[in-house]
Amino acid sequence: VIDIGKMYGKTGMFTYDPGFTSTASCDSGLTYIDGEEGILLHRGYPIGQLAEQSSFMEVSYLLLNGELPSPEEYEKFNYTISRHTMLHDQLRGFYQGFRRDAHPMAIMCGVVGALSAFYHDSTDIADPAHRTISSHRLIAKMPTIAAMAYKYSIGQPFLYPDNSLSYTGNFLRMTFGVPAEEYEVIPAVEKAMDRIFILHADHEQNASTSTVRLAGSSGANPFACIAAGIACLWGPAHGGANEAALNMLQEIGTPDRIPHYIERAKNKDDPFRLMGFGHRVYKNYDPRATVMQKTVREVFDALKVKDPVFEVALRLEEMALNDDYFVEKKLFPNVDFYSGVILSAIGFPTTMFTALFALARTVGWVAQWNEMISDPGQRIGRPRQLYTGPAQRDYVPLSQR
Ligand code: ACO
Repeated sequence: VIDIGKMYGKTGMFTYDPGFTSTASCDSGLTYIDGEEGILLHRGYPIGQLAEQSSFMEVSYLLLNGELPSPEEYEKFNYTISRHTMLHDQLRGFYQGFRRDAHPMAIMCGVVGALSAFYHDSTDIADPAHRTISSHRLIAKMPTIAAMAYKYSIGQPFLYPDNSLSYTGNFLRMTFGVPAEEYEVIPAVEKAMDRIFILHADHEQNASTSTVRLAGSSGANPFACIAAGIACLWGPAHGGANEAALNMLQEIGTPDRIPHYIERAKNKDDPFRLMGFGHRVYKNYDPRATVMQKTVREVFDALKVKDPVFEVALRLEEMALNDDYFVEKKLFPNVDFYSGVILSAIGFPTTMFTALFALARTVGWVAQWNEMISDPGQRIGRPRQLYTGPAQRDYVPLSQR
């Protein structure tokens, strides 16, 4: 707690908490995390049960509405989302403005932000109907936007959504399908992808969600707010970690090289960290990593692939969890440790990993944004600072310096 009286000759106190390690910025009924016990609940339901038994569309409904849908509500929600999967055709031209080798996240930031220029009829945030339509639009269009970013980067034509498929099946087809050719969705891959989306749907006040809330607190429109969230998610300490984790596992290559990397991670003079390890909140096994590890096996069995990188990951986990450094600092594998291995087996290049995370997290961002805007006591977010600059002084004209 900082006594601002001492600093500025004024009365009052505020807390100084860099990184917000112990400051709540809001109240929320969406997601509960007990980092010590490794528990994650969405609206009270354990993530393991949702990942095993539910679907991404159902979890989306749950996060948005607070309760699981009835069969009729579920059908209606699915239908509504599938009605909004198309992008305005002028946005195709917007894609052409990017360099071919643009990172998909660069395209996502731009295209999602640009949605506010195309859908004026859903940007009046004071109107609950506008908020609902913009939420549905964002969730529905994100797979189309991400798949188009991928197609653009590899020089293939865009595929229009096929709304007879599931949310996830449609995304896989738009990403990997080719015009005029039948695309067969492999059920195990569809299931794994859907599960990955569930595992990334929301995670309370992480950096990108806090960014969305802060942007939204000023009254910015939802498309702009989600674009801000995408920008924040891009960083390697957040959404970029699964890309970094897979790169690291590939660089390690074989189990005999693991000890060298563990030693590097422990060396404070070396900036290297074990990517996919550690978490701000979890001081126990990330419950999402447990599901991920199981899903890797299912995908490998379905695709009949064997990837040495998975063996390296399993062995690295085992060695780190038996190392005093990682035990004492409570560093466990997080959700990103295994997700890159699965996504790579499915066929995604590493540059798409964070884009997939953004696709899934859009549901959480949108639900959190709605929760905040619906709160009558909501105020603009405005953190304080601890000023460390010079005291007041007089300006010296350029000629006298
Ligand atoms: N490898 C080696 N040491 C680590 C690691 C790691 N992956 N993570 C943390 N540490 C060490 C730090 O060096 C620090 O040591 P010290 O106390 O001797 O200084 C201590 O553990 C605490 O680390 P902090 O960085 O202070 O913890 P913080 O909560 O700020 O950071 C973070 C959490 C960013 C996730 C961190 O663990 C990290 O960089 N991990 C690797 C990147 C990663 O996997 N990110 C994905 C997060 S999950 C997500 O975004 C979906």
